[in-house]
Amino acid sequence: MKHDAVAVVDFGGQYAHLIATKVRRLHVLAEIRQPEDPIEAFTPYKGVIVSGSPSLASFGEDQDYNKAIYDLDAPVLGLCFGHQEIAQHYGGRVVHGGREWGRADLHIVRDHPLFKGLGPVEQVWMSHFDSVAEVGPDFEELGYSVLGDAGDQHRFAAIGSDRLRRYGFQFHAEVDDTVHGTEMLANFLFGICGCAPTWTMERYVEEQVERVRRQVGDRSVFLLASGGVDSTVAAKLFGLALGADRLHLLHVDNGLMRKDESREVLATLSRLGLDRHLHFVDAGDTFLRALEGVVEPEQKRQIIGETFVEVFECEARRLGIEGHLLGQGTIYPDTIETGGTKRADTIKTHHNRVPIIEEMIAAGRIVEPLAELYKVEVRELGEQLGIPRDVVWRQPFPGPGLGVRLLCSTGVEDRKGFETMVPRLEEIAARYGLAALPIPIRSVGVKADVRAYEHPVLFSGPAEWARLVEAAGTMFRHVPGVNRAVWNLGVEVPTRVRPLAATVTRERLDLLREADHIVMTALGRHGLYGTIWQCPTVLVPLEIDGRGRELVIVRPIHSERAMTATPAHLPEAVVDELRRLILPLPGVSGLAIDITSKPPGTIEWE
Ligand code: XMP
Repeated sequence: MKHDAVAVVDFGGQYAHLIATKVRRLHVLAEIRQPEDPIEAFTPYKGVIVSGSPSLASFGEDQDYNKAIYDLDAPVLGLCFGHQEIAQHYGGRVVHGGREWGRADLHIVRDHPLFKGLGPVEQVWMSHFDSVAEVGPDFEELGYSVLGDAGDQHRFAAIGSDRLRRYGFQFHAEVDDTVHGTEMLANFLFGICGCAPTWTMERYVEEQVERVRRQVGDRSVFLLASGGVDSTVAAKLFGLALGADRLHLLHVDNGLMRKDESREVLATLSRLGLDRHLHFVDAGDTFLRALEGVVEPEQKRQIIGETFVEVFECEARRLGIEGHLLGQGTIYPDTIETGGTKRADTIKTHHNRVPIIEEMIAAGRIVEPLAELYKVEVRELGEQLGIPRDVVWRQPFPGPGLGVRLLCSTGVEDRKGFETMVPRLEEIAARYGLAALPIPIRSVGVKADVRAYEHPVLFSGPAEWARLVEAAGTMFRHVPGVNRAVWNLGVEVPTRVRPLAATVTRERLDLLREADHIVMTALGRHGLYGTIWQCPTVLVPLEIDGRGRELVIVRPIHSERAMTATPAHLPEAVVDELRRLILPLPGVSGLAIDITSKPPGTIEWE
């Protein structure tokens, strides 16, 4: 049967692939196309969706694409960069400015098929530096956005021309935090493009089993099994496709695991019947030696990824199974964040996407059955494969483990730009009855599809949760150079923070393990483990007002696909427990909660 389909033009935005996933979940086939593809490549489609991009439309970046897409008969919808390109192409004007991050309210100006069934005000998700300042003669404004307390109004958040059947959203309808984004996409697909919802995911497992069999042939697979959701689901799928005898599992304790984690992982893999060939290596010393003296986050990630491959190859030799393919539970965000598509910026290098792995992929030595999926789809697949809920719904834990939650520093203060930043920060914080102190180290974030390695700001003072999150949002919009906000849970208002020289050491890891254990136990005891999507605990080597060595930061978030996230509110009882148990740990200089959305922060700090 032939299905109605739409093309997604991938300009390298972090969410381009997500658009295709969301469309497929509406039972319409979506295929990714490159902007320079010949126009014939677009003719089979009933609609075209143009993605976001790390490029700036206002500066005329990335203009070398096939503009004949605008001559197609089919309707076109642009998102973010795509929206700006459509405005510009049809005589509008795009300016560098009007930036917005995170949540905003879309005010819909008039009844329109794109917003059928929705309210007059909708929560949408923004991540952009540029904005549309004027539209061409055929176009009208369908919605404007309003952000936060100050009520900053941004025009042309949604535009359209019904005559041309060209539309644009400044916001990302494809991300989960645009609450009715799926409905908006459905309105475009069914109401405007006239697609029929005939494509189903029912046969997904069978298709994947078939694919694995084809790729692996008569060989076997040696899978790196961390015990996390992704590699466990991949293991089950391999078992189904190849049988238990052709599947070897290797669990590596990289020394960066949580307290008692490896023991529990091995028990779980056995409980799932994945222990026919289950191998274990304690490689903590190897990883720690490789990380000795290293400070820079990307360098840490590269080293961890390479060391995994070294350990894997050494173990394969020892077992005499060098000819096996390396299996990985890589999912789509790992690829996109590593800059793994043609135009995407590298936000951070995921451990399973380091150059040596890329070389092995090119040589056909890697097999990754989940590489197209997001976490929520992996979980659905896991449930379909009969994996128990407690495993499928485990909170995600990154491959590089605590290695990317232990910030390192040369001890040199990084206060570049602080003179202009501080008065603006203080002015914004004062509006909310807070004090603000920028921290002279950096953490990784993402702004408008580009890596942002910038400063966190420590807020102190009493405030309601909603006001705090609002204060953070206002700060991100108005103060460049800042990508994170944390809220001090200590009693005093700090006046001076100083970074200390620190690298990855066993002693620091032990302290982080203890703090993380306290946090995870508290979440479990208060029944929050399942409602909070992930909760990293991070150590930042900071002395505060002349005391201590490590600021402990807890980052509870809500998410679905890890491409966006909102900070999760912890009840007062939990916060009290964390204060009581973490602040007295030796060397701890303070405790704070991360109140940053993604963007502009990422979930992990490195
Ligand atoms: P970020 O920090 O990029 O994280 O917002 C998104 C999700 O990915 C996890 N993460 C990783 N997972 N290898 C992994 O398997 C990695 O190198 C890696 N880095 C981040 C992170 O915990 C979050 O769930």
